[in-house]
Amino acid sequence: MDEIESWKTADIFANPLWIGKYPGDLTDLRRKTLEFLNASDQLNAGLERDGGASSSTATEMPHTWLEAQDFFEWAKLPSHEIWEHWGYTDSNLRGIERSWANYHPKGAWTDIHTHSRVDQVMVLYLDVPKDSGNLEIENPLFYHWENTRRSAGFNGWRPIEVQTGDVVIFPGWIRHRTGKNNNDEPRITINTNISVNPAPPPPIQDSPNI
Ligand SMILES: [Fe+2]
Repeated sequence: MDEIESWKTADIFANPLWIGKYPGDLTDLRRKTLEFLNASDQLNAGLERDGGASSSTATEMPHTWLEAQDFFEWAKLPSHEIWEHWGYTDSNLRGIERSWANYHPKGAWTDIHTHSRVDQVMVLYLDVPKDSGNLEIENPLFYHWENTRRSAGFNGWRPIEVQTGDVVIFPGWIRHRTGKNNNDEPRITINTNISVNPAPPPPIQDSPNI
């Protein structure tokens, strides 16, 4: 069709996937995160595969660190704007439910998951060496497109190519995973769950003296 240039996508529904770039300096936050990961005895392998580690169940959370304040202050505006774009209400009541760091040495990756009822997920790509794994997203319309005649590769999983300093925001129901880290250097992210009237973090397990 010669006139295809006059066509564009209608773009009338909310876009679930947003990617931005943090313009600040991440040096101090990267150092702090590595120190924390090295020292923490609360890391888990839950969704992490082949050597990955996460502080998703740790009591200490990155958004409380002094080194993270500039980033989280910067993130308030895009978080709000995207919240409004989705038609969400009560933006003034949103807050951080939990934040954590993920660590992928060579070979590691994160398995398929959602963040369930979390209103908004924000991932800061703190350190993404070359070929250390993209963010991979499953088409939210998978079951609709799946019932059509298509060429291979047009449905299912697609990568969002991420670089150090990128920030990706998406709703908690999006199914996602990461690619495998093929670099000798580790891949590090800081992940944040944002919700309205966030529930307090779960109580500390195995508390002594009870
Ligand atoms: Fe996730």
